[in-house]
Amino acid sequence: MLNLDTLISEEQLQARIKELGAQISKDYAGKEIIVLCILKGGVMFMTDLVKHIDVPLKMEFMVVSSYGDEYKSSGVVKVLKDLDEPIIGKNVLIVEDIIDSGRTLSCIQKMLQERGAESIKLCTLLDKKEERVTEVRVDYVGFPIGNEFVIGYGLDYKQYYRNLPYIAVNRG
Ligand code: IMP
Ligand code: MG
Repeated sequence: MLNLDTLISEEQLQARIKELGAQISKDYAGKEIIVLCILKGGVMFMTDLVKHIDVPLKMEFMVVSSYGDEYKSSGVVKVLKDLDEPIIGKNVLIVEDIIDSGRTLSCIQKMLQERGAESIKLCTLLDKKEERVTEVRVDYVGFPIGNEFVIGYGLDYKQYYRNLPYIAVNRG
């Protein structure tokens, strides 16, 4: 068992997600978007976020495995489940739980760009900016955080804790 402290409460998460939804709706006014959730971590965030977006959208899901240990990704990304539809000419908004080294997302961004999307933007709930080793353009950030291992609201430790409605940090 981990010794958990709340880092971002459910109320803080929901308030910020509402703001992000409003901003995204404004930025994409008059357009249609494909909201692409990177499973499994992005699932809670995506399902709450789309409730606050008022432009026409389709929800898509992608499963990638990024080999590494339980704390870090390796950046060797393998697509386990791809999008159901082509994205040529489409506006794609990628929704992720957290950007750490940036390896996973820079790989996904490159892959999607090659498929001829009209635009590709990235929305992450959490951003560990100081940990970046690869350049990634992030368009929307929920919360910048420090170099701490966090869990909850989609984020896991050995696949557990994704169901917490808040973000917690392990105090050991
Ligand atoms: P990156 O490729 O280093 O940016 O790794 C991003 C991925 O690593 C995320 O999608 C998570 O799966 C995982 N990850 C990074 N930091 C954390 C954390 O603090 N808690 C849980 N998972 C994390
Ligand atoms: Mg993830």
